[in-house]
Amino acid sequence: MPDIGLLNGEFMPLRHARVSIEDRGFQFGDGVYEVVRTYGGVPFQLDAHLERLERSADAIGLSMPIPSAQWKEWVGEGVARAGYPECKVYVQVTRGVAPRDHLFPHKTTPTIVMSVREMRPLDPVLCQSGVVVMTMDDLRWGRCDIKSLNLLPNVLARQRASEAGAFEAILLRGEMVTEGAVSNIMMVCGGRVITPLEGVQILSGVTRRFVLSLARKAGIPVEERNVDLKELRRAEEVFLTGTTIEVLPVVRIDDVPVGSGQPGLLTKRLRTFFLEQIAR
Ligand code: PDD
Repeated sequence: MPDIGLLNGEFMPLRHARVSIEDRGFQFGDGVYEVVRTYGGVPFQLDAHLERLERSADAIGLSMPIPSAQWKEWVGEGVARAGYPECKVYVQVTRGVAPRDHLFPHKTTPTIVMSVREMRPLDPVLCQSGVVVMTMDDLRWGRCDIKSLNLLPNVLARQRASEAGAFEAILLRGEMVTEGAVSNIMMVCGGRVITPLEGVQILSGVTRRFVLSLARKAGIPVEERNVDLKELRRAEEVFLTGTTIEVLPVVRIDDVPVGSGQPGLLTKRLRTFFLEQIAR
């Protein structure tokens, strides 16, 4: 049973997992999610992902129907059942199935779903040579710290970037850089790693935090503060972080090369630290 689905506590082949068309996740995007990957078959930073899931649910007034111990058991079992060398685990909780009405339903059981698929590593050529990104307006709402199902602006941004030949969209509120459509962004200036501050305008990335802690441990100064586009364009190095992309160098922003136009030294060092930690 390779691709695994879990629907309200019941495991099944992914293709058999079906939810109602009246699920509020489907009709309103009324729910929250997480994406977790495994390394060596072990879910990476699962506690941090589950904490964020809980925070996101709380923030939309959805009480998490199950404790994190139950999630851990399901994730472990899903990964074991799938049996892939590495897995990508998607978990989602919605406000449940109810006749369509914007108001919260009085008595509805949240819908819990999980999928486990094979995690294929990112193309090693991209990791070595770096990627191009495209800047555009951040059209999202005012609570980007919540990992909600409402991803239309992210979807449109990433699609637009992809159609323009870029790997990722970099989102801007006026001149301020927020993050990527599916990643956080960091730059290197004068030997310091600088990244937009946590707050309502960005998702507090699990990989972001992990990479910042690696940098601090390695004695690399870190600054979390507002970043504007001019600074980003002048940065010596730029890289993205995220569950699926790890630490990924950026070599061009729109038409402007980053630094020398090659992945930077500090970015490569951080990527190596990251991979070393994972290997442990
Ligand atoms: N997205 N910012 C946004 C908007 C994201 O969607 C993501 C991840 C990140 C990075 O967060 P983390 O390091 O916790 O993966 C930042 C996931 C992978 C997704 O939606 O598929």
